[in-house]
Amino acid sequence: MHRIISSPNRLSGELTPPGDRSISVRAVILNSISSGDAEIRNFGSGADCYAAIRVLKDLGAKISKINDSDFLIQGDSFTEPHKVLNAGNSGTVMRLMAGLLSAQPFSTVITGDRSLRSRPMERVITPLRLMGAEISGRENNTLAPLSIQGRQLKGIEYGMNVASAQVKSAILIAALYGDSKTVINQPDLSRDHTERMLKDMGAKVEIDGLKISISPGKLTSRDVTVPADISSAAFWLVGAACHPDAEIRVNNVGVNPGRTGILDVLKSMGANIEVLNHREQSGEPVADLIARSSDLIGTEISGSMIPRVQDEIPILALAACFAKGKTEIKNAEELRVKETDRIHTIVTELKRLGAKIQETADGMLITQSAPLTGNNCISYGDHRIAMMLGIAGLLSKGETQIKGSEHASVTYPSFWNHISNLIDGKV
Ligand code: S3P
Repeated sequence: MHRIISSPNRLSGELTPPGDRSISVRAVILNSISSGDAEIRNFGSGADCYAAIRVLKDLGAKISKINDSDFLIQGDSFTEPHKVLNAGNSGTVMRLMAGLLSAQPFSTVITGDRSLRSRPMERVITPLRLMGAEISGRENNTLAPLSIQGRQLKGIEYGMNVASAQVKSAILIAALYGDSKTVINQPDLSRDHTERMLKDMGAKVEIDGLKISISPGKLTSRDVTVPADISSAAFWLVGAACHPDAEIRVNNVGVNPGRTGILDVLKSMGANIEVLNHREQSGEPVADLIARSSDLIGTEISGSMIPRVQDEIPILALAACFAKGKTEIKNAEELRVKETDRIHTIVTELKRLGAKIQETADGMLITQSAPLTGNNCISYGDHRIAMMLGIAGLLSKGETQIKGSEHASVTYPSFWNHISNLIDGKV
């Protein structure tokens, strides 16, 4: 589906993006293997979150809808599925479920859409096999579909070679079913939603810097109220910062330190962002954010910052087009194995709008290029590229046409409605 966006004179309003995808997926998966009942409130409305529910229901999990955004989960009831499980577009669902399925007393096959079937899976297959899992994949055990015969697993000590929250979480979930303690050594910090939730549900998890230890054990169900997704909020923060007359308030946003790289980077670029009403909700920090028109300056994004902003690089690359001087993004080779090769898709699409941007092996170089000029652009089926282009349309001269705009619904089905409300200045 095509959308055409042009720049309004003013961009203003207040909104709440959908529930956080990472927290929603973990909340349904972990409560499905816990004893007791739990309510998940403000569950993410995107297709990725629903993929988690679909896979769990196909395994016999008892999940029922209370209303549009709240679900009841009655845990602990898996059976061998009659069909191939389908994780859709979601790397998180596939990788976390690989850990879980490796320990179930039956056999499963899990697949995904074309994008997910091209993303690396040996990063979970390798540690799970060391734990005793019988798991294999296409192309010499590197790609999905994955075929898994559940086994009794054992505890391991494992040094991860990518700072991946999905890999860490797959191992942590599998480790609940091990015969002894598992120790994970991370190369860098990544989002810790799994560790927080596991602890809250009674798992014995110890964290010492980059080292995580977990003992096998049963979980106890916990209600979770999911905050709004900071990765979705990021689009509005950049939209407001780069527009000459803008003020946008984004409410109830999850501000887990593993996810707030976007705030740190935008602040280092001189963005006018206020963080208000800091509070805690279901073991996660939450705040309201207000972003206003700003004079941005270029920056370097690299090293330990990358795992904290990797999903926000598409929108940060757009911000860099409006920042004085140069911005360099380095050490971001993981972007090449996201929903698309994002280094390539970001650079290709921003070039169409006149951006001075250059692809490098592990990132990109961007020089101030505003004003951008609207053009015909493509999302490549990648939700974050679709939404980045939507914001680019709000900031470019003339019209920007986005082909494949509907893919925003992977994480943010109301994205285009929210854009319309901000253009009209509705509160
Ligand atoms: C996610 C972790 C990140 C992120 C992804 C969601 C998660 O990937 O990019 O969109 O929910 O655990 P990594 O596994 O590479 O950290």
